[in-house]
Amino acid sequence: MTSKNTEKPWGGRFTTPTDEFVEQFTESVSYDQRLAHYDIMGSIAHVTMLAKVGVISKKESIQIISALKKIELDINAGKFQWQTSLEDVHMNIETALVARIGDVGKKLHTGRSRNDQIATDIRLYLRSEIDLVCVQINAVLKALLELASEHASTIMPGFTHLQSAQPVTFGHHLLAWAEMLLRDRSRLLDCRKRLNLLPLGSAALAGTSYPIDRKMVAEALGFDGVTQNSLDSVSDRDFAIEFTAAASLIMMHLSRFSEELVIWMSQASGFIDLGDAWCTGSSIMPQKKNPDIPELVRGKTGRVYGDLTALLTLMKAQPLAYNRDNQEDKESLFDAVDTVKMCLIAYAGLIPTITVNRETMYKAAAAGFATATDLADYLVVNGLAFRDAHEVVGKTVQYAIQNNKDLPSLTLRELQKFSKVIKEDVYAVLELEGSVSARDHIGGTAPKQVKAAIKRLKKQIK
Ligand code: ARG
Repeated sequence: MTSKNTEKPWGGRFTTPTDEFVEQFTESVSYDQRLAHYDIMGSIAHVTMLAKVGVISKKESIQIISALKKIELDINAGKFQWQTSLEDVHMNIETALVARIGDVGKKLHTGRSRNDQIATDIRLYLRSEIDLVCVQINAVLKALLELASEHASTIMPGFTHLQSAQPVTFGHHLLAWAEMLLRDRSRLLDCRKRLNLLPLGSAALAGTSYPIDRKMVAEALGFDGVTQNSLDSVSDRDFAIEFTAAASLIMMHLSRFSEELVIWMSQASGFIDLGDAWCTGSSIMPQKKNPDIPELVRGKTGRVYGDLTALLTLMKAQPLAYNRDNQEDKESLFDAVDTVKMCLIAYAGLIPTITVNRETMYKAAAAGFATATDLADYLVVNGLAFRDAHEVVGKTVQYAIQNNKDLPSLTLRELQKFSKVIKEDVYAVLELEGSVSARDHIGGTAPKQVKAAIKRLKKQIK
């Protein structure tokens, strides 16, 4: 079956009806209908402006606006009949408008094109999604800060190369993730700034000969201003790419965090447990409780990277100005938005269920000779050059390994075999608590610093 082009807003120039395959191939309404609210918002602002500058009458604008509002109610109530033959969200709504109010409805599209219309819709949509994602980042940050304040002085091994390196506080470790998410949020806000300009008025590509007032429309839609070049405005999607890049970084951070949760919850590590309600089991192994939520977040990271790659590739060979290629921006962008939001919601829910096995963490920190650097620093303070101190401690560790001891359990006599400068006060630095408390500067792991960082971060998530 083919549908008649006379039904199509662009039907005038055509003599044969559109092939049914072509209709299916070119349609976007199945997914761009989610932009309906923004499409109508943009149309209302546009029509209000057209009346203000006298291109249409006040009465006509009122008729159009009231019908558009009713159409939106129908859409929200699920009563709107979306038609594939009408291609996209714009033509579906415009056709419904004309069906409701007749010829007056046909005036809506004066001085604009679907090209500047879609560019406007996506910006409005993305702006509001960015605001939501920021709220969700704040929720994750809040959960992180709460857990961190509970564990400001809980000791765990800090790792490099996934080998025990130096003791850190669990609170400090959690705040590392908070810092990353804060930067993620600032990237989104930065992207929001650049995208919050109105492209409408660019029309198809060259602008319009009607005496439009773009600034008025921008103000009505909450844009900070208007875009400055019509060709650029209808064609570029860098703002969508920027968002997806920022979303990719959020996912990368969540994925790294996920990796840690999975490791920490493994029997081999045993540092933490996640709430039963936030884990799933195995259909065959009755004993299993699996960290599927972090694993899925780690897995979904690939989707968002894929969305970014898709969008970058979509744009790379497009000459100015608008090309239909751009229609392919939506599914990748929507997927990135949906995925990052779901993953942030998951983390805001998951973090409060984390319980910490302090003893296991402590033992792991003690087992790995994690205060070896502290011993070297102690020797330096007592007169050795750092390289010599490094050598002395290396030998001491070797001795401890051979004798199946950790550093704090070596006797003073044993320690003094390696260096005469070692005195009784060495034990204060060999103990894990002394080691973490000594790192007492901005950015350090001392419990005092963790508490100060939490205070500072709390102010940033209000
Ligand atoms: N559905 C199109 C898109 O998403 C809207 C613009 C269509 N413009 C055109 N000249 N066919 O980009």
